[in-house]
Amino acid sequence: MNQEVIIVRGNHTLTGDVSVAGAKNSALKLMAAALLGQGATTLHNVPLISDIEIMSEVLERLGAAVTRDGHTLTIDTSAVDSCETPYELVSKMRASISVLGPLIGRFGEARVAMPGGCQIGARKIDMHLVGLEALGVAFDVDHGVLQATTPHGMRGAHVYLEFPSVGATENMLMASVTAEGHTAIENAACEPEIEDLANMLNAMGAKVSGAGTSLIEIEGVALDALHPCEHTCVGDRIEAGTFLVGGALTGGPVTVHGIDPAFLRMAIMKLRAMGCEVECGPDWVRVSRSEPLRSVDIQTLPHPGFPTDLQAQFMLLAALADDVSVITENVFENRFMFAAELMRMGADVTLDDHHAIVRGVSELEGAPVSSTDLRAGAALVLAGIVADGETSVHHLEHIDRGYEDYAGKLASLGADIRRVPADAVVG
Ligand code: UD1
Repeated sequence: MNQEVIIVRGNHTLTGDVSVAGAKNSALKLMAAALLGQGATTLHNVPLISDIEIMSEVLERLGAAVTRDGHTLTIDTSAVDSCETPYELVSKMRASISVLGPLIGRFGEARVAMPGGCQIGARKIDMHLVGLEALGVAFDVDHGVLQATTPHGMRGAHVYLEFPSVGATENMLMASVTAEGHTAIENAACEPEIEDLANMLNAMGAKVSGAGTSLIEIEGVALDALHPCEHTCVGDRIEAGTFLVGGALTGGPVTVHGIDPAFLRMAIMKLRAMGCEVECGPDWVRVSRSEPLRSVDIQTLPHPGFPTDLQAQFMLLAALADDVSVITENVFENRFMFAAELMRMGADVTLDDHHAIVRGVSELEGAPVSSTDLRAGAALVLAGIVADGETSVHHLEHIDRGYEDYAGKLASLGADIRRVPADAVVG
């Protein structure tokens, strides 16, 4: 448990340039995919965050050797001899279940602890299982452990996902690369991180086409046709969006580097609708604002819709806008815990099922607040930067899961921010 707190003094403007790290949600799956390479795979642009450490531990428990040199990870999976990921790791990070697909693809079997519920909703894995069953995988749950076997081998299949689940698409993709024959995943998730994963699998010798669209097709190859590779992780669009919100809140200009603006099309549209000026280059986006923030309605949807992982940050913008905004959360059923913390800082938010009605106020007040999840934590720190007075943000373990040196990057943009031991502010 992280024993530090972020202290931020308000009424500051963020200006300047910041670079984003590689995408957490990509790097985690690329690391899992390295299992299929049966040798030493090198991944560049891997963020220095705690979720990556947990995934390294997951792979090490399976028998892999993971070494890090700055943002480069080498994952040698030649000695992997276990198919088991225990609850102790899955409970720390739900994304541990992304080893399910590659373990099945490599060994034809896997044992992964069932993930429990999670703070942002029930987060079931039924679609992962339906997709894998269509490939010939049989499942059994024994004392909380999901056991996967392939009694008759794996054969390609045509699967139509009920919802474009990111995790289900990825697990199915990673298992199907070694299934015999042709697999089609319809209504597949289209997130840029899935395209990144498919690019890496193809560099390993797999035959995947259509990733990034809702129809992904895979021609199975023999396991020994797959080999390790060297791959660079795409930039983190959610980290980029978070800093853009920081610029939009305070006026900027803030220029975010290391990101393809196409990944952020919907967020950029909403920033413009809220009165911001946004310019884009090949791998950067700049935001500034000279007019008051305008209210806007937002609904989260699978990519290319508005990302649920930017919902809290945009709720903060809406909280300081000139009128009423309605924010609708369609991806996770319980992702408004952030609203309660923001209300403690003076925001006016009414929750009605999966809608948040946000009435803009003229200013927020600094207060002690708690990160309830990763993105909420990041948004609360931004709230502290514009609030009146001092804000202390607790439970940084959530922020550290996904943001590399968040406080340091915000300080470089002009925030008055520091991390201090929790006992320096509590008690
Ligand atoms: C991934 C991202 C997360 C992001 C989310 C949606 C990682 C590590 N995490 O999570 O940051 O917010 O995509 O963009 O990449 N569902 C089911 N059954 C299933 C699978 C999903 O009901 O078998 C539901 C979930 O409960 C949720 C919705 O579908 O309500 C979306 O989940 P999914 O797209 O699978 O998200 P994750 O892969 O968990």
